[in-house]
Amino acid sequence: LCSFVAPVQAQTYPTRSITMIVPFAAGGPTDVISRIVTSHMAQTLGQSIIIENVVGAGGTTATTRAARAANDGYALITGHMGTHAASVPLYPKLAYHPEKDFEPIALLAGTPILILARKDFPPKDLKEFVAYVKTNAEKVNAAHAGVGSVSHVSCELLHSILDIKPVGVPFNGTGPAMNALVAGQVDYMCDQIVNAVPQINAGTIKAYAIATPERNPSLPNVPTTAEAGLTTFQAQAWNAMFAPKGTSPAILASLNAAAVKALDDETVKKRLLELGSVIPTPGERTPEALAALVKSEIAKWTPVLKPAS
Ligand code: MLT
Repeated sequence: LCSFVAPVQAQTYPTRSITMIVPFAAGGPTDVISRIVTSHMAQTLGQSIIIENVVGAGGTTATTRAARAANDGYALITGHMGTHAASVPLYPKLAYHPEKDFEPIALLAGTPILILARKDFPPKDLKEFVAYVKTNAEKVNAAHAGVGSVSHVSCELLHSILDIKPVGVPFNGTGPAMNALVAGQVDYMCDQIVNAVPQINAGTIKAYAIATPERNPSLPNVPTTAEAGLTTFQAQAWNAMFAPKGTSPAILASLNAAAVKALDDETVKKRLLELGSVIPTPGERTPEALAALVKSEIAKWTPVLKPAS
């Protein structure tokens, strides 16, 4: 007697929890955006997504680790304008290349940059800020999340426009940098909006301007840099999800679909919008669009940024 056993269908991805590497400290923009989006993605995928904050070197330590992780879909990274673009010119010995070592999954959020200061920093508006930091460039300091981070690169751009070189104070993320700003331990910072909205609304810091052409609905009273007299400072960062190179197209498709579904969810959208994020349009959510963004951002930042000394 012979019996035929139907082949066991291999259970499809994911069959266990996924690790999402966040290259900065908990509580900062990358962490907050990752948690909002992955909590919904976990429901779609039927597995938990565990956030692992791996800090250091402006996010490049974690990004190197993610590039070297197994390409089986169980170790992913939320990268951004710094880790996946600005780090290329800033770190000549970078141990990964954003295009060669990663598969793009999806853009998660655009994040306008604001010029922020401790509450008792003397200048009361952007014009006074410009005059003050130019006069006191030797004395003032700017907090950032490490060389190559968004906060570092954005203030580098601001400083090059103002032709000043103030002291930078590095932190493991703008989560802790924001705590120092609130505590009055540092003077100012160029930070992504998601980190700034709760503090501006609580009145614990000053916001001089938002570096986008339009005001942001979450901060209707904060003027644009153009309104405040510094049109040339325009900066918006982005956060996106990547997998190690060689991850299978089927896994990448599941992850992209789950990310897109999260971005369409009303609760996720509401939370991201409350924090001032710009939600990617459907056309901007494809892996191809993210690949094109990374390419264009590397091309944009390479002539602007010089290797860190
Ligand atoms: C940055 O400046 O790159 C970010 O704000 C990092 C972070 O998420 O803390």
